[in-house]
Amino acid sequence: MEKSKYFRIIVCYIIILIIASVALVLCGDFKNDSKVTINEDEKSLINVGFTQVGLESGYRIANTASVQNALSRENGFITQFNNGRQMQENQIKAIRGYISQSVDYIVLSPITEDGYTTVLKEAKSAGIPVILQDRKVNQADSDLYSVWIGSDMRTEGEKAAEWLETYLLDEGRSRDQINIVVLQGTIGSSAQLGRTMGFDSVSDRHENWKILEQKSGDFTTTKGEEVMKYFINKYGKDIDVVVSQNDSMTFGAIDALNEAGYKTGEDGDIILISFDAVHDALEMVSSGIINVDVECNPETGDLVKDVILRMEKGEEVSKEILIDEMVFTKENVDKYLETRTY
Ligand code: AHR
Repeated sequence: MEKSKYFRIIVCYIIILIIASVALVLCGDFKNDSKVTINEDEKSLINVGFTQVGLESGYRIANTASVQNALSRENGFITQFNNGRQMQENQIKAIRGYISQSVDYIVLSPITEDGYTTVLKEAKSAGIPVILQDRKVNQADSDLYSVWIGSDMRTEGEKAAEWLETYLLDEGRSRDQINIVVLQGTIGSSAQLGRTMGFDSVSDRHENWKILEQKSGDFTTTKGEEVMKYFINKYGKDIDVVVSQNDSMTFGAIDALNEAGYKTGEDGDIILISFDAVHDALEMVSSGIINVDVECNPETGDLVKDVILRMEKGEEVSKEILIDEMVFTKENVDKYLETRTY
């Protein structure tokens, strides 16, 4: 190839690369951190800093979209986004950044319940209200945030176990020994703590239910598959029930179980209980692969928006706002499949 032609191709590649990088920075998206420039005519907008857990699940992606859509410019907000990437230090750094910019509100979905006290005190001293959404922080820190909006995770765990009670009764297995393994979410997160507590509180009423082991799959498909393989190697045919604390881990667990020759669900060898109820999992409830899916509703955005607007008017807001949630089984799931967008 001629030298000048070769040179032109390289220049073209470099230009394309520069254009693509600039486009990425300008557009921003919920996967990356976004900072916004405030123009003179936008100074009246409500300035919010939002720090999110990460990108580990369908729930998370839908939750991010819900908050970002509600706190949009069209609705009177200017919102910066931080992806915590499952690391508390990233969220703490982001919150400190929001404090130094004197944002009007901070929206936080904490990764775990522990570890935010100091930074929440800093926000409080700066006079910036913090709104927690989805997960919580420790009860002892409840005077450090204004409102928490989210799911009753303990009730979700109870609903899962109560479904199992009824199912075993209907199957004539209520007196059989039932061996359970639990794929837990991120240890110390409200979702893991609440679902574990709720499930265990019902399980404790049944002497014949045995929780063989609980182990964290970090709410991800890859880790869920890895932990399920570990359970299969250790307990094999002894497993009667898999409780998976979110759909992402459930997808990994199903792969591991199928690979090892086990079938889950209605006509399977193993009863499969999941949480979240994202579309792909609901398809599996419909086809009988997952027995039950307890919803964790990610659509908190409008509730967050309404709370901020009320606070702007100086109105009282409740300290805790719970979002509605359902339980999906083969009997009721089909009518919800079409409208489930995440
Ligand atoms: O805190 C909610 C949980 O976090 C969801 O169940 C899970 O999918 C997510 O990662």
